[in-house]
Amino acid sequence: MQIAFTKSALPATGAVAAPVFEGGLKEGVFAALDARSKGALARAAATVNFSGKKDQVLDIIAPAFLENSRILIIGVGKKADFTILGAEGAGGLAAVRLMRMREKSVSIALDGFDSDKTTIDGAAAHFAQGFLLRTYRFDKYKTKLEPDQKPQLAKVTIHTPSTKAKVLFAELEKIAQGVTFTRDLVSEPPNVLYPESFAARCKELEALGVKVTVLGVKEMKKLGMGALLGVGQGSARESKLVALEWKGGREGKAPVALVGKGVCFDTGGISIKPAAGMEDMKWDMGGAGAVAGAIKALAMRKAKANVVGVLGLVENMPDGNAQRPSDVVRSMSGQTIEIINTDAEGRLVLADAIWWTQEVYKPVAMVDLATLTGAILIALANEYAGLFTKDDALAAQLLKAGEATGELLWRMPLAKVHDDVIKSDIADMKNTGPREGGSSNAAAFIGRFVKKGAAWAHLDIAGKAWTTKDLPVVPKGATGYGVRLLDEWIRTNYEK
Ligand code: BES
Ligand code: MN
Ligand code: ZN
Repeated sequence: MQIAFTKSALPATGAVAAPVFEGGLKEGVFAALDARSKGALARAAATVNFSGKKDQVLDIIAPAFLENSRILIIGVGKKADFTILGAEGAGGLAAVRLMRMREKSVSIALDGFDSDKTTIDGAAAHFAQGFLLRTYRFDKYKTKLEPDQKPQLAKVTIHTPSTKAKVLFAELEKIAQGVTFTRDLVSEPPNVLYPESFAARCKELEALGVKVTVLGVKEMKKLGMGALLGVGQGSARESKLVALEWKGGREGKAPVALVGKGVCFDTGGISIKPAAGMEDMKWDMGGAGAVAGAIKALAMRKAKANVVGVLGLVENMPDGNAQRPSDVVRSMSGQTIEIINTDAEGRLVLADAIWWTQEVYKPVAMVDLATLTGAILIALANEYAGLFTKDDALAAQLLKAGEATGELLWRMPLAKVHDDVIKSDIADMKNTGPREGGSSNAAAFIGRFVKKGAAWAHLDIAGKAWTTKDLPVVPKGATGYGVRLLDEWIRTNYEK
C-alpha cells in the first residue's frame, strides 16, 4: 500500500473519505463537501441518524451533484476525547470500508483533525498508520481467489495542511513493517515455520544491518542448555537459539535484551493437550515473533540504541524420545529442574535463553515475551498482557509504553509465595506449581534464572498474540502484539 501526503485540494472525482467529529457536521471538510453536493450529505446523515459518534460510518455512493464515486465519512467521537489512538482506529475503519471497493486509489481529507490531545501532524500520521496496519492480509495459501476477491486499493493520498505528517509517518511505516514481519511469522503453519525455517527468516534481517547468530543442538549441548533441549528432544525438528543484534547506539554500550518464547508448535508433549483447540498452538512462538519484529522495526528506522533479541526456538512433541514427567534436567545456570508437566515448556525454554543472554550480553535491562500460560487469559482476557516484575521503575516505563501504543499491560503480582510453590523434593525446583496463581508461579520460575539485581520484566502475552475477532488496527489472526510496545519503550528510554 502506497500512502502519500499532499496539501492540494480534494479531487472532484474518485473516492473520497474524511473523518468528522461528533456534532461537527457544520464544519470543515464535511460542510465543504455538503455545500458542493447542495446538501445531499447532510440529508444522508439525517436519514441514518449519523452524528459523527465514534465508529459511525456514513457511506454515500455516487453522491448527488458531485462527480465523486463515493464519499465515506467516519465518525471519530467527541473532539475533547480525540487522541492519536482514536486517529489510528479511524484509519483502520476507513481501510476496512475502502478495501472492499473496486477503485485502485482513494483520497482522504484530514483537515481540522486535531484536538487538545493531538496535533494535526500526529493525527494524520497515526491515521495513516492505522489504515496500513488494518490492511494486513495473510492469503498466500489461498489458491482459488478470483481477482475480484482481492483488494484493488493500492494508493492512498492524504490531503492535509500538516507539514510534518509525512516525516512522522515515514517512521511509523517502518514500525508497521516490523509488525507485518511478526504477523507473517505467527500466521505461518508449523509445517512451514519450525525452528530452522524461523531462523532462516531471521537471516533476512542481515540486509538491514542486524547481526544474526544461530546456535544448533550441538552448540547448545556444549553450553549445558538441558532445559531448552529437553523440550525439543521429542521433535524431528532441530531446536535453535537465535540472537539478533542491532547496534545503533554508542559502541561498547551494554544492550537492552528482548527474549522471546518460540515454541513453533506446542502439543503439550507427553502431557499432551486435548485435541480441541490444539491448532492454536501454532502461535505459541508469538513471543519470539514479537522480538524478531521489534528488531526489524528498530533496524528499519535505524534506532540509536543497542538492542539484542534472543529467540528460543523449539517444537514440543510427544515421541519415544520425548521428555517425561518426572525427568530431571540441568539448566545452563547449573540449577536442576524436575519436570512435572511437559506442557509447562515455555518457562524451560526461557530459563536457558535468559541465562545465555545475561552471560553473553550483560544487558542493562531485559524483557521477555511469552505466550506462557492459559491462566493469564482467565485473569486478563484478551485486553491486557500480564506484566511481571519487581522493578517499579521498569514497570512504569513499560506501562507507559503500553498506554502510548494501545498495546496494553496490566501489572500482576510476583512475590515470594509464587516462588515457594515451585520447590521440588528431588531437584532445585519443579516446572509447575498449583493452578492457583498459575501465571505468577510461571513468572517466579523464570525469575530464578535472572541474575540478582538485574532489571528484568516478563510479559505473558498468551491473550494478545492472536485475535479471533477484528480489532481497530488488527484484522483477526496474528496481532503482532509487542512490536509497537517494545519499539516505544526503547525509543523513550534508551535512545537519547
Ligand atoms: N503455550 C501454553 C500456554 C497457552 C495457553 C498459550 C493458551 C496460549 C493460549 C503453555 O505452554 C502451557 O501449556 N501452559 C500450561 C501450563 C500448565 C501446564 C502449568 C497452561 O497454561 O495450562
Ligand atoms: Mn505448553
Ligand atoms: Zn507453550
